[in-house]
Amino acid sequence: MEMVLYEVSGSIGTITINRPKALNALCSQVLDELNEILDSVDLETVRCLIVTGSGEKSFVAGADIAEMSTLTKEQGEAFGKKGNDVFLKLEHFPIPTIAAVNGFALGGGCELSMACDIRLCADNAVFGQPEVGLGITPGFGGTQRLARIVGPNIAKEMILTARNIKADDAYRIGLVNAVYPHDELMAAAQKMAARIAGNAPIAVRASKKAITEGLDLPIEEAVALEEKLFGSCFDTADQKEGMGAFLEKRKPSGFVNK
Ligand code: CAA
Repeated sequence: MEMVLYEVSGSIGTITINRPKALNALCSQVLDELNEILDSVDLETVRCLIVTGSGEKSFVAGADIAEMSTLTKEQGEAFGKKGNDVFLKLEHFPIPTIAAVNGFALGGGCELSMACDIRLCADNAVFGQPEVGLGITPGFGGTQRLARIVGPNIAKEMILTARNIKADDAYRIGLVNAVYPHDELMAAAQKMAARIAGNAPIAVRASKKAITEGLDLPIEEAVALEEKLFGSCFDTADQKEGMGAFLEKRKPSGFVNK
């Protein structure tokens, strides 16, 4: 892999979009490599993923405008599907994902961050969906996920005006959970990932699935999904350890993902 890096430290995996000369813009090769890396994650050991960008300046500055500039309608649609397929894989990834947004998160970059479960950003981060200024719509899920995360009112304003927003405004509208000084971002993301990774993995995965999938269902079906996932945690070693530790007034001695 050249354009996307993957490293594992303990139970935390970090995916880094690594095309700094183009501010980590998403060309087809980046999307292919990201897809392959997601397929290769060892879900037995890795319990949380961090997604970030190479360099000081950019998380991801969007889909690759040079590559898109000559596409036909059919090729444009196919490129949208390529991005959407990878981002759907990320959104439904079995373990939680944290976007550590270390600079520009524009167009496909904002969309990549929104396909993650949680967004943390550096104080130099800039978010936006500038596509209508380029003569296209957002194409990797931006019209859908932005509206779901910040509501249709603010999503329409951001997308239709194509105006970028800074980190503090991203926090104010609920697009990011927290803002950190640039050099503290990765440590904060790792701390959160470690906290997630320390909880009972079956329950963590089931909670993510219940939220992600339940949001698109009518409430009756959504709570039925929750019931199934709730039930699936019982009679597991981790449920016995978690509840046993509470009843015995001690800390759980470590969860085994069984
Ligand atoms: N695609 C391709 N190349 C890009 C790029 C992109 N999205 N963003 C930046 N680059 C390249 C630049 O072309 C430049 O390359 P060269 O050095 O070879 O000229 C290099 O990265 C550095 O960029 P700048 O010189 O422009 O850096 P800057 O600091 O002056 O500006 C910026 C930074 C404001 C992010 C500016 O680069 C920019 O506006 N980029 C485009 C942002 C954008 O419009 N993104 C949305 C793309 S469309 C999309 O994503 C569709 C979708 O939903 C799928």
